[in-house]
Amino acid sequence: MILIAAVDRNWGIGKDNSLLFRIPADQRFFRETTTGKVVVMGRRTLESFPGGAPLKNRTNIVLSRNPSYEKKGVTVFNDTESLLTELEKYPKDSVFCIGGAAVYKELLPYCDRALITKVEEAYEADAYFPDLNKLEDWKVTEVSEEQTCFDLVYHFMTYERKGK
Ligand SMILES: NC(=O)c1ccc[n+]([C@@H]2O[C@H](COP(=O)([O-])OP(=O)(O)OC[C@H]3O[C@@H](n4cnc5c(N)ncnc54)[C@H](OP(=O)(O)O)[C@@H]3O)[C@@H](O)[C@H]2O)c1
Repeated sequence: MILIAAVDRNWGIGKDNSLLFRIPADQRFFRETTTGKVVVMGRRTLESFPGGAPLKNRTNIVLSRNPSYEKKGVTVFNDTESLLTELEKYPKDSVFCIGGAAVYKELLPYCDRALITKVEEAYEADAYFPDLNKLEDWKVTEVSEEQTCFDLVYHFMTYERKGK
């Protein structure tokens, strides 16, 4: 499973169940990377999408502890164990963990790769991605050229688990 996230300089990812920033080129990267693939998300992230609707042209899998939670177009799992059993059906590189904070943290141990769009700006946030620079078993393996969107400076980065 591969993590994919857009973070600010403090690894902030959201506030009030919404994103901190929207960069069209990053949204395109996310869409192109995940289209035709499996996306795994928390119930709050699903509900942050317009109309709470699943992402088009992708297999949408949602984690919720509520056994009666259901939504058209998504498959719900109530715990990590049953989710991981389901994910065995798919090639590892075709499954993307798309957030939010609780689900990134929960699924990090089952991921070997993270595609991180890192913005140099700091925002007020209430949801964070784990700081991979502080985790000894993760390292940066790729950094793009500097990208800009108006006055925002950002990089597309790849992190990988060491020894993988
Ligand atoms: N920048 C980015 O790349 C990015 C990407 C995605 C999301 N975000 C942001 O992240 C924020 C949302 O993050 P969040 O942490 O509040 O919510 P979240 O991770 O999207 O969803 C949390 C919910 O998932 C369910 N859940 C989590 N772990 C579970 C487990 N082990 N088993 C069963 N269910 C589990 C629970 O649902 P129930 O309450 O139904 O039990 C929990 O309340 C928003 O601000 C969003 O915009 C940012």
